[in-house]
Amino acid sequence: MSHVRHILIFSILLASPAAAQNLDSLLARMTLEEKLGQLNLLSAGGRASPEQMQLVRAGRLGGLFNVIGAENTNPRQRIAVTESRLKIPLLFGLDVIHGYRTIFPIPLGEASSFDPDAAEATARAAGQEAAAFGINWTYAPMVDIARDPRWGRIAEGSGEDPYLGSLLAAARVRGFQQNIFATVKHFAGYGAAEAGREYNETEISERTMREIYLPPFKAAVDAGVASLMSAFNDISGVPASGNAWLTDTVLRREWGFTGFVVSDWTSVAELINHGVAGSQAEAGRRALTAGVDMDMQSGIYADSLAALVRSNQIPLAVVDSAVMRILRAKQRLGLFRDPYRARTAPPTTELRTLARRVAGESIVLLKNERSLLPLPKSGPVAVIGPLADNKEEPLGPWHTQGRGDDVVTVLQGIKSKVPSGTQVLYAQGSGIEDTATAGFAAAVAAARQAKVAILVLGERGDMSGEAASRSSLGLPGVQERLLEAVAGTGTPVVLVLMNGRPLILEWASDHVPAIVETWFLGVEAGNATADVLFGDVNPSGRLPITFPRVLGQVPLYYNHRNTGRPPDVNNKFSSKYIDVPVTPRYPFGFGLSYTTYAYSNLKLSAARARASDSITATVTVANTGNREGTEVVQLYVRDEVASVSRPVRELKAFRRVALRPGESRTVELRIAVRDLWFYGLDMKPVVEPGTFRVYVGANSAEGLEATFECIP
Ligand code: BGC
Repeated sequence: MSHVRHILIFSILLASPAAAQNLDSLLARMTLEEKLGQLNLLSAGGRASPEQMQLVRAGRLGGLFNVIGAENTNPRQRIAVTESRLKIPLLFGLDVIHGYRTIFPIPLGEASSFDPDAAEATARAAGQEAAAFGINWTYAPMVDIARDPRWGRIAEGSGEDPYLGSLLAAARVRGFQQNIFATVKHFAGYGAAEAGREYNETEISERTMREIYLPPFKAAVDAGVASLMSAFNDISGVPASGNAWLTDTVLRREWGFTGFVVSDWTSVAELINHGVAGSQAEAGRRALTAGVDMDMQSGIYADSLAALVRSNQIPLAVVDSAVMRILRAKQRLGLFRDPYRARTAPPTTELRTLARRVAGESIVLLKNERSLLPLPKSGPVAVIGPLADNKEEPLGPWHTQGRGDDVVTVLQGIKSKVPSGTQVLYAQGSGIEDTATAGFAAAVAAARQAKVAILVLGERGDMSGEAASRSSLGLPGVQERLLEAVAGTGTPVVLVLMNGRPLILEWASDHVPAIVETWFLGVEAGNATADVLFGDVNPSGRLPITFPRVLGQVPLYYNHRNTGRPPDVNNKFSSKYIDVPVTPRYPFGFGLSYTTYAYSNLKLSAARARASDSITATVTVANTGNREGTEVVQLYVRDEVASVSRPVRELKAFRRVALRPGESRTVELRIAVRDLWFYGLDMKPVVEPGTFRVYVGANSAEGLEATFECIP
């Protein structure tokens, strides 16, 4: 396992007395200004380049980000390692979120694959491609658990589940760190922004923080992640970028993290707006002493902290520890030996093949009445909608160096899929957001001439991502009216969605026979979509996030607690709404296939188990249809009686299982009983004796059941 080898090499480096000695003597030679300089991180766009070069020369900068291309990073590095007094190399950071130039599916889309190996592969490839352009550090993966689809950054993470989120976090860290350093962000609780409003405050109990929001960070730390980014939000009044409990108590003392913490963009200065610091210097002192080692973009550490250190208001030891963490990271990355890190990008064909495969795995089939899909490759087919032939939007948010020119649109993908004689009609129909309906007539006319109408609808790529909260979750603009108009022709409609969050799809779910969720799939969007529409790829994606029926249900997530009055249609005085069911439109883990699967014969390896034991669930899964397919077999657990009310279900294992038509397989899923921990009344992790119910099935709302007893 290459990642294990990498971590080993890194630890040997860290442990080497010679290397440690080196850094100690380097630190001893540094002036206070040079030390604070190492903690200073600026965006290339932020200050004029000559001024930044001067900062590098003076040893007043530890890293730069948003410098694109080795032709731009190398000259800066050259100044650092040849012209600065101590010749300390720079870090070069960039948000390589889902690809550098070759854009892969957005992380939420890729999470739908339930395939950590795929996530590791795209992160590795993206890291290698970025490294070829001078980047040695990325601000990814974003591992914030999110339960509110109004929040635009939901697109950047892995959805609502801490178990899936943890596996993907670790996989992406391993993938990136084959070539560049990773940063897990945003530490912590950012995804709990109240009302889904970007940068908003959060109210998170310590238990929920530890059980829901922190596990993906812990998994990333265990996978050897180099750095964490502190979040913008406060947690019940204590901002994450000045929160000693998070960055010192939990991260360093409990988890033993030895890497470094970088702030988010000006989040140190923003401590003033939060109202926990009265001046820049006070904000800097608060963040640094809480454990935020590097100041992104505020310039406060470099510009305002020297006097506080000289007057002992900040212990020099705090500065020294932070500096050592940065120096050790640079050493671990090999920058002292090899500051320019010349790398070659993977061949484009290899990148695109990977992009197409993972994009195919990320597609979720939400509805397929009377097996409308897959479509025959004969036409005529109408391809309609503002996203049908759009080259920019499939890149999604945060597409760094991605270019629209590289994107295969859905229309192009369909055209190259069907035989050349097949008639493919195209009409844009409407814009994404504008209200003009003039294009409806042409769309309706195209649909009338076709055997099937494929409508490609959804959001603009930048309607999710940072600073992109929405207060309504329907299809933007007049797209739903376009859908209704085309459906009104009577031509069967396939709705292909592109979006960065769960949408409200009530009308479509009730009236449109086939719905395909494609998220933003990146450069191979059109080919991967056509692969699924025409049956060359059988969809195997599963929702990593709940799709509500109406916005009023939000936040709605599968791993909620039970309440004293669980929802009961026959009981008015139970926990529900009077105007809408409590259930989601599409539950977590849900996704259809062109074949069908049947589950039977669930057995557990033991009826009783100790906390130190493992339990293996075996289940027979059969492909009962006539196509080859991959089922995602999911195992959920419920702790029936505990000292603290536990979620009705928690995902604890899953497995992608490929099955030929008619094939049936015995699938094993193993869980370590100690992984069923929660935070008890005394706020310590505990596995309590008692009954655990195990569900194995196709999604979070169904499954066979069995129980076992945990014994002391
Ligand atoms: C975002 C981070 C990002 C940083 C640097 C901030 O606005 O919140 O996720 O890494 O900018 O681009």
